[in-house]
Amino acid sequence: MYNNKLLIKGYIDKDIPDDIDPVAEINRMRKEKNAVILAHYYQEGMIQDMADFVGDSLYLSQQAAKTKADMIVFCGVHFMAETAKLLSPERKVLLPDLNAGCSLADSCKAEDFATFLEKYPDHKVISYINTTAEIKALSYIICTSSNAVKIVESFDKKEKIIFAPDRNLGNYIKSITGRDMVIWDGACHVHEEFSVERMLELKKRYPDAKIIAHPECVKPVLLLADHIGSTSSLLHYTMKDDAKTYIVATESGIIHQMKKERPEKTFLAAPPKDSSCGCNDCRFMKLNTIEKLYNCMKYEMPEVIVKDDLKEKAVLSIRRMLDLSEKMGL
Ligand code: 13P
Ligand code: SF4
Repeated sequence: MYNNKLLIKGYIDKDIPDDIDPVAEINRMRKEKNAVILAHYYQEGMIQDMADFVGDSLYLSQQAAKTKADMIVFCGVHFMAETAKLLSPERKVLLPDLNAGCSLADSCKAEDFATFLEKYPDHKVISYINTTAEIKALSYIICTSSNAVKIVESFDKKEKIIFAPDRNLGNYIKSITGRDMVIWDGACHVHEEFSVERMLELKKRYPDAKIIAHPECVKPVLLLADHIGSTSSLLHYTMKDDAKTYIVATESGIIHQMKKERPEKTFLAAPPKDSSCGCNDCRFMKLNTIEKLYNCMKYEMPEVIVKDDLKEKAVLSIRRMLDLSEKMGL
């Protein structure tokens, strides 16, 4: 599948010798190679704890844009590492497992999107960061769940807008801003799986629990929520709010940070429709492991590369987001 023999599986599949402590070695290599480790909140706890910076997709893209490190090791999914490469083209950007994609990004293919855009020649395109570089190159500006409402509101009311690719986030923004946007019909496999019925049953057992939800969840779940926000917004809410128990409707990795910040509180993962599916875990995010991180730093592979013809246009839409976010103090 991949042209380098060591990367046949999309990651370096080598056992770590018994006499090697991967954590100590990762720390040694990070210094020796002047590398920075960025980890998303959905990574396994041990990886979050090892990272130089842990955060949501906006925060991590801001870190990628300003780092002075020679190497960025991105513990997240492909579109995040690709965004880091676009923002820091002179640095080596590594992703421990190239198979770490995103079902939401996959739900918006460049060819289909380009055809769709032909129907709306006078619309401005706002795309969520969970997209490929191809989609970013077709977009005017990028947003994340942290800044999406403010970015949409920054457009003149007369401006016609296309929002892609998440239908749930798009409809949520529509309901907050009252803007009539054309929305691409995409979704994420984790956030669409939460069960309203099972969440209500849990709420009966924990009547004082507050429900918190990521805006990628479907509307009936968002209607139950006491607070809706990006991963960092959900985390900060639980840090400041005075409830003792929360039902968390997003990927389970964030609960690691919530417990670290508020060990005295109880965090319950919102139940998915199928209790045996393990759907609270993003199957792509959880492909990264300490072993793959160790091997990726040792062999400096897999590296994330962006096609030359996309670089300029794709980075323009991300830079617009970062500049606007800075102006808005985000
Ligand atoms: P955040 O921007 O909140 O980190 O979310 C990213 C993501 O992939 C949600 O599924
Ligand atoms: Fe993509 Fe969903 Fe995983 Fe987020 S949780 S990275 S949107 S597949």
